[in-house]
Amino acid sequence: MQKAASDSGGTMAEIQLRKVNKRWGSFVGVDNFDLTIADQEFLVLLGPSGCGKTTTMRMIAGLEDATDGEIIIDGKVVNDLDPKDRDVAMVFQSYGLYPNMNVYENIRFPLKVRKVPEAEHDERVRRASAMVELDDFLHRKPAELSGGQRQRVALARAIVREPNVFLMDEPLSNLDAKLRVSTRAQIKNLSHELKVTTVYVTHDQIEAMTLADRVVVMKQGKVQQVGTPTDIYDHPANTFVASFIGSPAMNLMEGELRAGTFTGDNVSISGLTGPDGPVTLGFRAEDAALATDGAGQITAPIYTIELLGDATMLTVRAGRQLVSVKAHKEFRAAIGDMVSFTVPVPICHLFDQQSGMRIDQQPGMRVAAT
Ligand SMILES: Nc1ncnc2c1ncn2[C@@H]1O[C@H](COP(=O)(O)OP(=O)(O)OP(=O)(O)O)[C@@H](O)[C@H]1O
Ligand SMILES: [Mg+2]
Repeated sequence: MQKAASDSGGTMAEIQLRKVNKRWGSFVGVDNFDLTIADQEFLVLLGPSGCGKTTTMRMIAGLEDATDGEIIIDGKVVNDLDPKDRDVAMVFQSYGLYPNMNVYENIRFPLKVRKVPEAEHDERVRRASAMVELDDFLHRKPAELSGGQRQRVALARAIVREPNVFLMDEPLSNLDAKLRVSTRAQIKNLSHELKVTTVYVTHDQIEAMTLADRVVVMKQGKVQQVGTPTDIYDHPANTFVASFIGSPAMNLMEGELRAGTFTGDNVSISGLTGPDGPVTLGFRAEDAALATDGAGQITAPIYTIELLGDATMLTVRAGRQLVSVKAHKEFRAAIGDMVSFTVPVPICHLFDQQSGMRIDQQPGMRVAAT
């Protein structure tokens, strides 16, 4: 592969995972992970606890051997390379700072280990610390810092190496909600400035949506969908992705499709396209609207009403299923009141009830099961 000289004079860092598996005995931690991560891409691995995110990242870093499959960085198979020879910098959730070194020495440490000429150290440490706004804390020990500041030291220590690849495993999970939002913004800005291929692990779907060029949604070691945040939000490949992305998650209602009409508890929607039989209907809370005349496609009693400030979230009980609808912020009603809302056909998603796979709304098009 042709090497492209980037602004920083660095190398291309495309990462290819070719049918990568990780097994411990008969337990499959990562199942046939196959993906090319583009140079400078910000890729997020998203999924519930235990789905194989950290394991995938540790295999890229070389901290874990792949049971089979190939890992290729910058055109070279790296399966047999030690972590230190892979030119990747990893940021862990637990910071991993040296308690008896001050911030300056913590950031400088990778340069010493890698025998970077001493004359370069000061400039590189100061450049990295400035990027994460730690200039005023260089003399402090980690114990004298807040969680957010420690997290930024860990980031600076990765930045100072000027690696080809950044691997970040839930780097924000120790921070409180407000710091998480500001540090998230800082990471996004940094990745844009540094132009480094980044693989970022999280189980927080909002973090994934806000940071990623592409998101990989995983479940029990298997990739469920790879796409841009818009792809996975607007066209979830299956009910798992639909129920994992979005706050609240997509409404899912079980029912029957007959000649284009979906019927289920408290719901009837005509004009849909799909095979007759049992299906799962999906739609997002913000895509439905209250019907003022009481003549919507769903009519059901209010289960709960939540004031969010910018909107009022209504949850109704349709048979055994709870369904959420976003209403105007001034909307008020009591629990138990009947409400009716419209669910326009273009915002409806249909899924196969058995496999959970998406049934595309264009006739004849069906997304293949993976
Ligand atoms: N050394 C090991 N031996 C056996 N099983 C392991 C080992 N390491 C991890 N696992 C299992 O592999 C699966 C994936 O673990 P992994 O750490 O990749 O999950 P994760 O997606 O990062 O989850 P979390 O969000 O909780 O960090 C889990 O079920 C875990 O118990
Ligand atoms: Mg993990």
